[in-house]
Amino acid sequence: MKNVLITGGAGFIGSNFVRYLLETEPGVRIVNLDLLTYAGRPENLQDLPDPARHLFVQGDICDRALVDRLLREHTIDTIVHFAAETHVDRSILGPGQFVQTNIVGTFTLLEAARQYWIVEKSLPLEAVRFHHVSTDEVFGSLKPGEPAWTEETPYAPNSPYAASKASSDHLVRSYHHTYGLPATISNCSNNYGPRQFPEKLIPLMILNATTGKPLPVYGDGQQIRDWLYVEDHCEAISLIVRKGRVGQTYNIGGDNQPPNIQIIHTICDILDELQPQSPHTPHEKLITPVADRPGHDRRYDMDIHKINAELGWKPRQTLHDGLLHTVNWYLTHPDWVASVSGNSEYKAWVEQNYTKRGESGK
Ligand code: NAD
Ligand code: DAU
Repeated sequence: MKNVLITGGAGFIGSNFVRYLLETEPGVRIVNLDLLTYAGRPENLQDLPDPARHLFVQGDICDRALVDRLLREHTIDTIVHFAAETHVDRSILGPGQFVQTNIVGTFTLLEAARQYWIVEKSLPLEAVRFHHVSTDEVFGSLKPGEPAWTEETPYAPNSPYAASKASSDHLVRSYHHTYGLPATISNCSNNYGPRQFPEKLIPLMILNATTGKPLPVYGDGQQIRDWLYVEDHCEAISLIVRKGRVGQTYNIGGDNQPPNIQIIHTICDILDELQPQSPHTPHEKLITPVADRPGHDRRYDMDIHKINAELGWKPRQTLHDGLLHTVNWYLTHPDWVASVSGNSEYKAWVEQNYTKRGESGK
């Protein structure tokens, strides 16, 4: 890993990964290709450690000519592919962009990598790697008592977002199987931490609670996710890229499965403790049941034995400490919060998804 193309590196996990690589891999140079959609934030790339090794390029992963040029100009040996449309609720209201970015975009990157690394033999194949960052949502939803998902679990995506990610996983798999592209895939559970766009549960709850807005709980709030602190995800990806076996997929998860409502209560408790003088304390009085998400997956749980046995990875951060750190990060970055949540696109999204949503779907 010398010259790395990171796609989607201005988003939540991508920007945390850029920081992680700059801190942990002194020999690596990064080209960061990001379209800067509503979710891609230049603010996420401020104050990078060793910024001279990071080049930002605003552009679309579906732009084949641009991707071809970047691979050649920077002799790219490693692609770590994060760029995607990522919000399930947006995929329900507008699935088309998910098909374009997540499927066509991944296909475009795969074709460019195949041409440059395999057809043109630009670099030794042992020295190149395409890593595709995917999600646990490709596996569908677990019933009570069903075992955690392993790498062998059949795909059963339920939302347009999950289906588009499943399609992209299949494309990556096929490029390894058919063309010998040195590829790996990781399927990870719900991330949280600094710089997450506040359309997702945890940052939405933190920002709404601090400003005294309702905390919208979909349905009965008993849905379960497998929460993972973002830096733990970055460490797992870095290990897979450096030491994972080509052609393999690896499950990544947090070993943390409380229901949504418990996560929300924990955030409220943390805020009560940090801001006892706030007019919104106790924050749990803001909790408001709203209509459920259509097709809402009930439970996710990842079996992480494979990555633990092969690469020695396991999550480092406990859920409580990770949440405390995350709440503190949002409280101490008012400029980031103002810039990200103050813009008209975000306000329009909140209006579309919540104001018109209606009351509890219990
Ligand atoms: P995000 O929504 O915060 O960021 C996505 C980034 O992709 C943004 O910077 C956006 O500008 C960029 N992008 C979108 N379309 C693009 C295009 N056509 N060309 C170039 N850039 C484009 O997403 P995230 O939460 O950081 O997720 C990153 C990846 O990790 C995604 O592939 C997602 O499916 C996967 N993932 C996310 C989670 C999670 O909990 N957030 C969990 C598992 C896997
Ligand atoms: O599991 C990994 C996936 O996690 C990633 O692949 C996705 O990119 C990421 O968005 C996330 O998907 P979820 O749908 O699980 O995340 P979200 O934060 O949107 O919702 C988490 C849970 O909280 C889910 O059960 C829905 C619920 N929820 C969410 C919002 C935004 C609410 O109850 N109220 C809300 O306002």
